[in-house]
Amino acid sequence: MKSSIRNNHPHPEETVNDWVSQVIIRKGKRTDLPQMEWDGEFTHLRQIYANTYKRSRAGLARIWVVEFHPQVIIGQVLLQLKSIREDLADGVDRAYLFSFRIKPKFRSQGLGALLLTAAESDVQQIGFHEMTLIVSKVNERAIQFYQQHGYRITAPERGEWVYRDHNNERHKVVDPGWKMVKVLRRY
Ligand SMILES: CC(C)(COP(=O)(O)OP(=O)(O)OC[C@H]1O[C@@H](n2cnc3c(N)ncnc32)[C@H](O)[C@@H]1OP(=O)(O)O)[C@@H](O)C(=O)NCCC(=O)NCCS
Repeated sequence: MKSSIRNNHPHPEETVNDWVSQVIIRKGKRTDLPQMEWDGEFTHLRQIYANTYKRSRAGLARIWVVEFHPQVIIGQVLLQLKSIREDLADGVDRAYLFSFRIKPKFRSQGLGALLLTAAESDVQQIGFHEMTLIVSKVNERAIQFYQQHGYRITAPERGEWVYRDHNNERHKVVDPGWKMVKVLRRY
């Protein structure tokens, strides 16, 4: 692994899957934004990614990516450090994790765990002690993944949110979910 963030849980297959050693976990750059749309699957989220990048420049958000080989983005996670919903992100103690995904053919190799750890360490280092997220009730694999990483369900969420797509058209999403919370270790 080239990154300073190394996989501390080597899997027996790791020597076979030597592509895993080509992976770097790093902060997202402006030039990563187009690749975060995954060849069209997430083009509709362009404004969200651009706004989050802008907020990251102002210290209000974070973007972490998984880079495979030179400059191929295969996963990402976004963080809001401050939100109008203070129960999700309050700017001082609590951060909100969203748009966390690894490209399908790269899943189940420990990259999600690495990316999550990078995001958690990042906010811990600036003094935050809690990570929150909202996961769809039907996304059982992700719920299990988060539980294995110390997240606990704390409340149901109506899962209603509004965004503007790349054509500036307004969309309303209704996807009932669970709010999950992890208390992060204090340094
Ligand atoms: C959730 C998600 C980000 C996890 O990413 P991932 O890279 O598959 O995560 P990991 O590989 O760290 O862990 C996943 C599984 O692989 C297993 N695993 C971990 N390291 C492994 C390795 N080296 N080799 C094989 N399996 C491994 C883990 O035991 C884990 O098992 P589980 O599914 O029973 O929990 C990914 O599934 C994803 O992108 N899902 C779609 C988007 C999504 O739902 N995001 C969450 C929205 S809130």
